[in-house]
Amino acid sequence: GLVTSTEMFKKAYEGGYAVGAFNVNNMEIIQGIVEAATEEQAPLILQVSAGARKYANPVYLRKLAEAAVEVSGLDICLHLDHGDDFDICKACVDSGFTSVMIDGSKHPFSENIALTKKVVDYAHDHGVVVEAELGKLAGIEDDVNVDAHNATFTDPDEAVEFVERSGCDSLAITIGTSHGAFKFKGEPRLDFDRLHKISDLLPQYPLVLHGASSVPKEFVDLCNQYGGQIPGAQGVPEEMLRKAAKSGVCKINIDTDLRLAMTASIRQVFVENPGWFDPRQYLGPGRSAIKAMVSHKIKNVLGCSNKR
Ligand code: G3H
Ligand code: 13P
Ligand code: ZN
Repeated sequence: GLVTSTEMFKKAYEGGYAVGAFNVNNMEIIQGIVEAATEEQAPLILQVSAGARKYANPVYLRKLAEAAVEVSGLDICLHLDHGDDFDICKACVDSGFTSVMIDGSKHPFSENIALTKKVVDYAHDHGVVVEAELGKLAGIEDDVNVDAHNATFTDPDEAVEFVERSGCDSLAITIGTSHGAFKFKGEPRLDFDRLHKISDLLPQYPLVLHGASSVPKEFVDLCNQYGGQIPGAQGVPEEMLRKAAKSGVCKINIDTDLRLAMTASIRQVFVENPGWFDPRQYLGPGRSAIKAMVSHKIKNVLGCSNKR
């Protein structure tokens, strides 16, 4: 059925692996992800952003997630990604989501706590778990010095106080990742010292890594080879994600890699088959590309094969 992430995170923490949280926007994306997780017998989080709700209509996405559970027999956590305010979190709780994120990271510390606590109180009353965020997502080179990092990256002592006072079930932290396909200008770097400090101060507590796509070179090259223009794209190296999964990070968020995998394969189909115009002829390969990418991620990066 649709389940919370509580058990998934407990097992992931103990096992030193992470659960993949994949952003979904349509049927083919959901099918590709779920087919991979089913073959790998992996725990799975499907997450829906405000943009996804606007694009697809929340009812379609929830019903597709329910269909995924029915077809696959998997337990799936259905999660709101980056909820901006109490109302969107409440709407998702009321409609059957099992997990919501309240992203109060743009607010001052105490307002972020108050907003998060309000969502936690409502969600917990309804059996739903809550992810919160502390720190501002940005790449390391976006700041020039240590003071700037301290201002934007998650402060370890604040993280402890935040979790205690808000009661959130998991916490997204910032250690140098960022959303999208252009995460690093030079060498990829994450602040692992900071991650280790946070996880030492919050033993057994599940941390979340946003902006964790790897932006595989093969997809970027394919896009560019078949008419795309995404030069200089760079993501988080897989080795760093494996390391994070062993240091308290139980949920790894992936959206950009889904977009790149799907778009690369569709671009290729279009260029190689100019006469095709049946959407199944390109959405099918797009779905297969997503499935292959997610399988690789589950097996070789997240380490959650056969952990359902
Ligand atoms: O947080 C960013 C996710 O990739 C969702 O993106 O807001 O365009 O749906 P989106
Ligand atoms: P990416 O852009 O690295 O895939 O991150 C997605 C994310 O954090 C969604 O919340
Ligand atoms: Zn995010």
